[in-house]
Amino acid sequence: MSKGDRINADKSEGRRLVAALASESHQRGDYVGWFETLYARAEHPDHIPWADMQPNPHLVEWAARTAFDGRGLSAVTIGCGLGDDAEFLAASGCEVTAFDISPSAIGWCQRRFPTSTVRYMTADLLALPQDWQFDRVVEIYTVQALPLALRSAAIHAVARLVKPEGRLLAIGRLAESPDEQVSMPWPLTREEIREYEATGLREIGFEPLHDAEGVHRFCAEYVR
Ligand SMILES: C[S@@+](CC[C@H](N)C(=O)[O-])C[C@H]1O[C@@H](n2cnc3c(N)ncnc32)[C@H](O)[C@@H]1O
Repeated sequence: MSKGDRINADKSEGRRLVAALASESHQRGDYVGWFETLYARAEHPDHIPWADMQPNPHLVEWAARTAFDGRGLSAVTIGCGLGDDAEFLAASGCEVTAFDISPSAIGWCQRRFPTSTVRYMTADLLALPQDWQFDRVVEIYTVQALPLALRSAAIHAVARLVKPEGRLLAIGRLAESPDEQVSMPWPLTREEIREYEATGLREIGFEPLHDAEGVHRFCAEYVR
């Protein structure tokens, strides 16, 4: 794919192009640059494979199951993409910060939700201000989009955002064995997910999820 090409494809074609963009970027030793390239070139949400333009159904299910009320709580969504999960948390009453490494994704959120109360920001999970801490931290599909070599640093960076007595909700793909980690998105093994506990968080819920297409995911909750 040459520089400047615009992506003009449906979701399945989008997935193929994403794999090509990511692989080109990785070969240059740049593990995150391709996200900005993707968002900047995309002309429609269909070109972003993970952009469903609605909040993640597992987040919605978790909020309903726990009768979540965000009033009085600060929250952050990590790698917020096009902003639907951040808006969902804001509608639940939270004061929300949402960040993504891609300025184009953040611009897209701001255009989609011009009157939003969410504070949308461009930021790198691996280089955040030290004083950022929140009552609720939501990590959905971002750690799994980073190569295995960055996994541990990413997990520690996510955990650092959780205030004392705060909570983390992590949702992602679950690998049954490390053999499944050969292609993107690189699902997390149970062993990798356990690293959250090594950061000082305590696991208070872990639910394996299996959808009709046979994709295995997890929804895990932690408290500090
Ligand atoms: C697979 S997408 C998931 C997006 C969103 N969480 C969702 O579930 O739709 C991963 C997102 O993380 C962002 N991202 C990747 N690396 C990041 C980093 N180091 N810091 C912040 N955001 C990052 C990407 O730009 C992308 O929007």
